[in-house]
Amino acid sequence: MSVHTNVKKVTTHVLQQMKNDGEKISMLTGYDYTMARIIDTAGIDVILVGDSASNVMAGHETTLPITLDQMIYHASSVVRGVSRALVVVDMPFGSYQGNSKEALSSAIRIMKESGGHAVKLEGGQEILESVSRILTAGIPVMGHLGLTPQSIYKFGTYVVRAKEKDEAQRLIEDARALEEAGCFAIVLEKIPADLAAKVAKEVTIPIIGIGAGNGVDGQVLVVHDMLGINNEFSPRFLRKYHNLFQEMLGSFQRYIEDVKSGDFPNEEEQY
Ligand code: KIV
Repeated sequence: MSVHTNVKKVTTHVLQQMKNDGEKISMLTGYDYTMARIIDTAGIDVILVGDSASNVMAGHETTLPITLDQMIYHASSVVRGVSRALVVVDMPFGSYQGNSKEALSSAIRIMKESGGHAVKLEGGQEILESVSRILTAGIPVMGHLGLTPQSIYKFGTYVVRAKEKDEAQRLIEDARALEEAGCFAIVLEKIPADLAAKVAKEVTIPIIGIGAGNGVDGQVLVVHDMLGINNEFSPRFLRKYHNLFQEMLGSFQRYIEDVKSGDFPNEEEQY
């Protein structure tokens, strides 16, 4: 059994202890009360209220349209369903890139109005002033490097990042800068496994990977992807634990049939 399974509440300090003890950190996204309750009951360490809500909950093509108010709504729903996990909330596109004062007031709104425990920002040295200002207010910050979906129009595609030497070097420097600024962890998305393992060795804070191999300190997946609810998304890094799309489809079809045929409700299902 893992050393930290019995921890009543996961904090940023517990995550650091996990890294120090060589225990892997489990993280999944969550966007609503009901799902968060199930994920928390399963014993997850971290729930990320990801701006991927923009895709999986709202149906947008990118993460860019989701607003600060919408993120706060999702985060407050998740917080109500959680008793053990650390809840990290993504700062949405446009809420922190302008200047560090705006970044701080967005982070404060998230903490005050959602009850989340930490925020996550995408980027490295270019957002360091905002990261530092948020940290100064006592708000824990998780970094996010590699494929940063809020910059999709700069990248042009969702392919693996940092395969070239220059970008890999820059990513290592960004990770060091985020650690030095005081971030408690960093997500590395869709980068070569050996680069991610190198970063995890070079920095002392936990590195959580998605499409970044097994040499890091923990893993995160989008919950709808790992449950197979989103049946159109099958990247190489994704392990599907279910085919909920098919299961749900079948249930909905049976319900429709039962209503149409008059089979539902039966004698025992009425008053
Ligand atoms: O928004 C999100 O779901 C994320 C994860 C992919 C790390 O940032």
